[in-house]
Amino acid sequence: MIDLRSDTVTLPTNKMKQFIMDSPLGDDVYGEDPSVNLLQNKIAKIFNKESALFVPSGTMANLISVLTHCNRGDEVILGNKSHIFFYEAGGISAFGGVHSHQINNNDDGTININDIVSAIRKKGDDHFPKTKLICLENTHNACYGSPINTDFFNEVKNIAKKHNIPIHLDGARIFNAAIALNKSVDELTKDCDSVSCCLSKGLSAPVGSVILGNKNFISKAKSLRKALGGGMRQAGLIASAGIFSLDHMVNRIKDDHSNAKILAGKLNLIKNIEINLNQVHTNIIFIYNRDKTLSNQDMLLSLEKNNIKIDYKGNSKFRLVTHSSFKKEDINTVIKVFRKIFKD
Ligand SMILES: Cc1ncc(COP(=O)(O)O)c(C=O)c1O
Repeated sequence: MIDLRSDTVTLPTNKMKQFIMDSPLGDDVYGEDPSVNLLQNKIAKIFNKESALFVPSGTMANLISVLTHCNRGDEVILGNKSHIFFYEAGGISAFGGVHSHQINNNDDGTININDIVSAIRKKGDDHFPKTKLICLENTHNACYGSPINTDFFNEVKNIAKKHNIPIHLDGARIFNAAIALNKSVDELTKDCDSVSCCLSKGLSAPVGSVILGNKNFISKAKSLRKALGGGMRQAGLIASAGIFSLDHMVNRIKDDHSNAKILAGKLNLIKNIEINLNQVHTNIIFIYNRDKTLSNQDMLLSLEKNNIKIDYKGNSKFRLVTHSSFKKEDINTVIKVFRKIFKD
């Protein structure tokens, strides 16, 4: 099976498994798991942040971060295509009573600065919730996997600072952004007060995410992690995979990006498949089925019958994501199957 639904589908390599088996373990709720501590110290250094906290998932990393910044009834400004707003089951509202103020995401994942300024609530008026946080995303999953450069964060920071509002970054794929923009992750996230980063996407670890921020923020986040049931005991068993990923899986992300470009270029030549090649920036490709004789459901079923899985997003739009288990040689296999299904 060639699974292009997401970069979350990667399985640990044998070397990663061996590294996990050899890693020392302890009880992380007591702060005594050497592998969790090593991962947290290592990634905090990479991001040039004071502290880091290992958590089970990207969704929990974002939830804990928002809940650490905000109290019930506070408001967070975020993009209308952001993962936190769109794909996290409304957790910030359900569990934190946090009110979301969605503003339009541009195709490149940014938000117009003027829209952010207008969304910030006037202080001292009892009608309004308090604006307590701005959430951004990089790369921006639903906005074509766009990597967003430092100038945008700089502009948002200038506004945020003026109003004393922190910035949280959903950096599930921040290493993809760094590779695409040829910048370091610490440079890309220097204007963000907190960052969540997934180890289980392009970095190919089986489980886990990390929250980064200053010591005080991470200490509050840690008690929220416990409250949410995210305090894990011998968590080094999974954190060690993250250590391996940071050491061995970062530089290879460039292959995912070049495979995505080649795959998109070839798919674009097939009759009735529509792609905007200018919107293939990292490892995420969106395609549209324009074949009037092929339903979206039949397209998915035919692909699956030919051992290919992709993700359906509605309105004839599909997502394909390249990752470490998808090799350059697989591109031609995928193209052959698409040609057959689209009778090209
Ligand atoms: C941008 C972004 N943020 C957060 C998440 C959530 O990560 P998880 O699936 O580990 O909860 C995802 C998952 O795909 C994502 O794409």
